[in-house]
Amino acid sequence: FGPDEPKPAGTVGPHDTVVERTDQRRHWSGRTTSVTLTAQQGTLDLAGRQARTWLYDGGPMAAAVRVRAGDRLHARLVNRLEAATTVHWHGLRIRNDMDGVPDVTMPAVRPGDTFDYRFVVPDPGTYWLHSHVGVQRDRGLYAPLIVTDPHEPGDYDHDETIVLDDWTDGVGPTPDAILGELRAGHTGGTVRPVMAPSSPWGPMTSELTYPLHLANARPPEDPAVIRARPGQRLRLRLINASAATPYRVAFSGHRMTVTHADGWPVRPTTVDTLLIGMAERYDVLVTVGDGAFGLVAAAEGGKGVARAVVRTGAGTTPPPTARPAELRRRLLCYPDLRPVAGTALPKRPVDRTVRLLLSQGTSHPVTWLIDDHAWPHRKPVPVRQGERVRIDLVNASAMAHPIHLHGHTFALADTGVRKDTVVVLPGKTTSILVQADNPGRWLLHCHNAYHMALGMTTELDYL
Ligand code: C2O
Ligand code: CU
Repeated sequence: FGPDEPKPAGTVGPHDTVVERTDQRRHWSGRTTSVTLTAQQGTLDLAGRQARTWLYDGGPMAAAVRVRAGDRLHARLVNRLEAATTVHWHGLRIRNDMDGVPDVTMPAVRPGDTFDYRFVVPDPGTYWLHSHVGVQRDRGLYAPLIVTDPHEPGDYDHDETIVLDDWTDGVGPTPDAILGELRAGHTGGTVRPVMAPSSPWGPMTSELTYPLHLANARPPEDPAVIRARPGQRLRLRLINASAATPYRVAFSGHRMTVTHADGWPVRPTTVDTLLIGMAERYDVLVTVGDGAFGLVAAAEGGKGVARAVVRTGAGTTPPPTARPAELRRRLLCYPDLRPVAGTALPKRPVDRTVRLLLSQGTSHPVTWLIDDHAWPHRKPVPVRQGERVRIDLVNASAMAHPIHLHGHTFALADTGVRKDTVVVLPGKTTSILVQADNPGRWLLHCHNAYHMALGMTTELDYL
């Protein structure tokens, strides 16, 4: 392609380099990045509807943290809420005492108090931060956490973050009210199953029908607009911060090349649409055409969409309910991804195999279980420093569960792709390989906020 000729949308050009990465954590660069996160009541303007909610600073985008790999992050949490809270750094392999899990790694920060998180950020990539208390993150207590890498080749013109969220606070019941309904086994209102018989997630993709879906904390009627020039390449960092909604994402008129999953590079794979579970992140590259295009995240199986708009030229903005045809074309699922050399766990025998059963409790109140235990009752997974551990996640329930492990990244046993959150489909078993190299007590839980709060949580304990 000549210098002024746009590359065709969504293909990988001949000069694309596969991103290299090793499994070495970065040492401290000598630099410190300081931020303050003030957890407080606030209002989000949702196309004229004022939603009173809980936010860091002015909301998820205002509170977004950007830091270089190898820098020390000093983040001061100021709690101006009436409830205790914490910040968890989702996906970062940091010191256990900075992990932000109440009653496991630290006491929750009480109203009026502050807490200073200090740690070296070990890995570049797309992460996020959120409260780890109850279902607080189903309010607005989350933000993107982007770790840049001075050594990673950046073959793109714009670096944009799109964070997706299912929304109820201020427009529907509060998260705590929803939790109460779920626990009691009530249905109606928001607690209404989303059925999609042919979804890869299984027939019940969610137990909750949200009134609204947001992208970058904005409703579809008043979307965030990304401006670029025709032919430019965008790196889009897609984050699913929702409590209970998987999204199918497509970019109208374009194909997307997936380059990273959960912050780790993968062999570039070009697709029309991808399904992104709760807490997963995918980075995609896209070369934009001329006009105005919807980047649409459709709640899997449901009616709602979240969206942003990319504008490079003239043309009318697509209507808020438009569903790109790409949503029905080639769908990427994480088993299709392959790792980049250098990110695979070194080959070695497994020292310990653990089988964890994921199931729904059979009595009232409603619970979700790991190995027949509901948090805070639990059967921790014991590991020893240095061990290679295989965990077989056996889903005996009728719903998919995005399972997240703190403090580590695991390799999918089938493909070797590195992740920190993996969707275990109903009736299926997914095996992960963990290198036990970060001592502490680390949570392992379903990232459906309500499944987590109803018990689907255990921990990895170093002996
Ligand atoms: Cu994203 Cu235990 O958390
Ligand atoms: Cu779950």
